[in-house]
Amino acid sequence: MSRKTYYITTPIYYPSGKLHIGNTYTTVLCDALRRYKDLKGYDTYYLTGMDEHGKKIETVADERNIAPIDHVKQMAEETRALWDRLEISYDDFIRTTEKRHKTVVQKIFEQLLDQGDIYLGHYEGYYCMPCESFFTDSQLGENHTCPDCGRETDLLEEESYFLKLSKYQKRLLNFIEENPAFITPETRRNEVVNFIKQGLNDLSVSRTTFDWGIKVVSNPKHVVYVWIDALSNYISALGYGTDHDEKFQKYWHGDEVVHVTGKDILRFHAIYWPILLMALDIPINFRLHAHGFYQGKEGKMSKSKGSLVYPDTIINKYGLDELRYFLLRELPYGGDGVFSPDSFIERINYDLANDFGNLLNRTISMINKYFEGNITRQDEISHQADKELEDLVETTIKTYEENMENFKVSEAIKDLWRLISRTNKYIDETTPWILAKDTSQKPQLQNVMYHLAESLRIIGVLLKPLLLDASQGLFKQLGVADKYQTWASLSFGEILEFHVVKKPTPLFPRLDAEKEIEALSAIIRGEDDPEITPVDEDNLATIEDFNKLDLRIGKVIAAKFHPNADKLLVIKVDTGEKEPRQIVAGIAKHYTPEFLEGKKVVVVVNLKPVSLRGEQSEGMLLAGSNKQTLEILTVNNLDPGDGVQ
Ligand code: MSP
Repeated sequence: MSRKTYYITTPIYYPSGKLHIGNTYTTVLCDALRRYKDLKGYDTYYLTGMDEHGKKIETVADERNIAPIDHVKQMAEETRALWDRLEISYDDFIRTTEKRHKTVVQKIFEQLLDQGDIYLGHYEGYYCMPCESFFTDSQLGENHTCPDCGRETDLLEEESYFLKLSKYQKRLLNFIEENPAFITPETRRNEVVNFIKQGLNDLSVSRTTFDWGIKVVSNPKHVVYVWIDALSNYISALGYGTDHDEKFQKYWHGDEVVHVTGKDILRFHAIYWPILLMALDIPINFRLHAHGFYQGKEGKMSKSKGSLVYPDTIINKYGLDELRYFLLRELPYGGDGVFSPDSFIERINYDLANDFGNLLNRTISMINKYFEGNITRQDEISHQADKELEDLVETTIKTYEENMENFKVSEAIKDLWRLISRTNKYIDETTPWILAKDTSQKPQLQNVMYHLAESLRIIGVLLKPLLLDASQGLFKQLGVADKYQTWASLSFGEILEFHVVKKPTPLFPRLDAEKEIEALSAIIRGEDDPEITPVDEDNLATIEDFNKLDLRIGKVIAAKFHPNADKLLVIKVDTGEKEPRQIVAGIAKHYTPEFLEGKKVVVVVNLKPVSLRGEQSEGMLLAGSNKQTLEILTVNNLDPGDGVQ
């Protein structure tokens, strides 16, 4: 039987500035939803990309004194690197400057023109450049400001093509009314319905005042309005309108299609996009989820307020799962959320380190202490506490599924943490340390251990879409085979025995809250371009000086915290020599040992060995740094021992 299909998309991002945790949220949310569907056995496809045209991008490139095409290329590379760093499981990354996209947009435009759904007219109106939108007088805010972003607008007059929104207004309204699940949350759906009921004006869909866009084939002094260009990415990436439209047939005409966006771009996705599809005679079989915004403590995140947070800074310092957990947990369904250093550090310490990490640690330690690491299911025993825990496990699986299906990821996480708390409470109720004193209670004690491990296994499976390393770490430490990490295995008592590792490794080390809140606040406040110091012309190195250094590629095979210094990590690196080298590096504030393992780095191998707080260091890793962050240099396609020139 063929698997059900699931196609999920993020908005395509503007390459106008470095992406922050707000945009990252949308991308991580889609990643979690996609992984959840993978877990359920769907055939999934995840699309993201960049929205590279428009006046705003042209202006940013001008300011940088480079051609728009070079600017967007560079931004696309940076963005892909960011998503890779965040382990985002995307299948395709579409850029609107790509030929495969441009030809489809041109074809769509001409078709709509031929059909009479697009016509040539004249436009006079107030134009907001950042929003790339025209507004009528009545739509504007005070002093002719943009109703969407609040910035000043310019009065412009131009010849323009128009899309007949009015023609489709009634059909769209009927569609929304007949499909209550089309737009979520409900408040957003109501907003859209009210907006449509006020009456839709035909939409201006071309521009003549700038060049940086897709040209209208039949009238090249016009470029296609950036939103028509952008929205079409959801089908151009699947090969719609070409001879290679297998993906379009499979996924668009498949079982589930989901567009996730922020609330700010709701209208484009809930009105313009469905109308375009209707005009093209393509079924509107997607669901739209419009989430709220992450803000800083004092409202909207902004560079000037010192409240912009960048994902790479957080990951380097605290880890990927920590960021994913916070982002997915803290934004309530239908509302906005706040990213503050205090709440971030507290969530790591309370939820991840205390409640979850400790539960796993205690369980593994007890299974080792009382049963030398091996336990089996005890079928004859059943106490009230067991029953309660088993029931909650089963209910949690159901509510988790319901919440994930309805984009309520933070609710699904709350369900999981309720189960984690209940499992912790089960330890207090069953008092294993007292049972252990009486050998006749051994089966009871083993039953308790089994319940803890089995509850954790199921928590691990449900965590798979949300926390990447932590769920794998949990399975490894509990000794859970692949077939018990699946959706099909989600039933209490499915596994017969556990053989756990000898010594647990904490999944989330506890942080010194006060110190870390201060450090993170300083990082966020200081997030700005670093000052570049001029080259010291009086102290130049010769090529001979440089050649003295022996630089090689090394692969990190193990890393741990230095036992006597909290800024240092002790790292074992394979540099292609007989034995791995030990290097002590001052990067503990920026990297976790787990993150480094497997990375290929650049090593200076002919430095004089030194002892740093009792640990021998035989080399140095190269890293780049500024006031806020430090990043080690890594490579992908080279091997240990390869040279560096
Ligand atoms: N290019 C358009 C989308 C075209 S889709 C056919 C665009 N790009 S964007 O880069 O400005 O924004 C992309 C996404 O990031 C949007 O979903 C937006 O809502 C989201 N976010 C931007 N700031 C955000 C927060 N502070 N919090 C949460 N999401 C935020 O719009």
